[in-house]
Amino acid sequence: MPSSLDETIRSIRKYAPDFFPKVGIILGSGLNSLAEQITNPITIPYQAFGLTTGSVAGHASLLIMGHINNVPVVCLKGRLHLYEGTQNAMLCTLIRIIRHLGAKAVVITGAAGSLRTEVGAGEIMMITDHINLQPGNPLAGPNDESIGPRFVSLEEAYDPEFNQNLVSVASRMQIPLHKGVYLSTLGPVFETPAEIRAFKILGADAVGMSVVPEVIIARHCGLRVVGIAAITNLAVGLSHDKVTHEGTLQYGELTARKLVKLVPEFIKQIGSLIYG
Ligand code: HPA
Repeated sequence: MPSSLDETIRSIRKYAPDFFPKVGIILGSGLNSLAEQITNPITIPYQAFGLTTGSVAGHASLLIMGHINNVPVVCLKGRLHLYEGTQNAMLCTLIRIIRHLGAKAVVITGAAGSLRTEVGAGEIMMITDHINLQPGNPLAGPNDESIGPRFVSLEEAYDPEFNQNLVSVASRMQIPLHKGVYLSTLGPVFETPAEIRAFKILGADAVGMSVVPEVIIARHCGLRVVGIAAITNLAVGLSHDKVTHEGTLQYGELTARKLVKLVPEFIKQIGSLIYG
């Protein structure tokens, strides 16, 4: 692995020396079709700049640079999960690449189970806040002040202005958009019914195995964050259907059809909002 973030950025820049993305996108399980919206893509496997390839089906481990609605974007197609044994430092590098290539905002998507029976598979939920039940914290360890501060506020982790924009774009496009709190576990196991009942009492609306570490790293390095949970199932114990990764991929594609319409419009909106 390159010894520093600067070195990683230099190796990526060799592929696209004059490309400066404005917005980052992280794609969750089953949401790959969003990447097809990127025009004139330059695709680089994570391995080419010293990171590992993820091991989870449906996660390709490709960094893609190109345009969506004329806004330059950098897309992580395939995330690295901590449950795969990914080191915090590796995850930090992957997310910081988005910031250090020049983006100021990131749209983080992730498959999730819904704790609200009225919000079923195929729905999308704007994440308004989160509960972190992942062990440890990706920022634990020495802090590099040139990247971000030691102590990071997560009070408005999900950017209130962008959230308002997302709501108005969704309503204009008549795409139903739920709002809620995302609870993150390490995984890789799905939850027990008792855990789901407990998470409901804690205030969770959706549960998944990702998003939160990335949000923490993104906020630390100053990226403005929008989070969207792609609901692929009702959480364990809330329906007769079994929760499986295959189901996640299948229903991920269903939610992707909505995201493929919503996210490009939203990116156009925030592209002009941030950069004029
Ligand atoms: N639990 C955890 N992660 C998930 C789920 C779930 O029900 N669905 C998709 N990712």
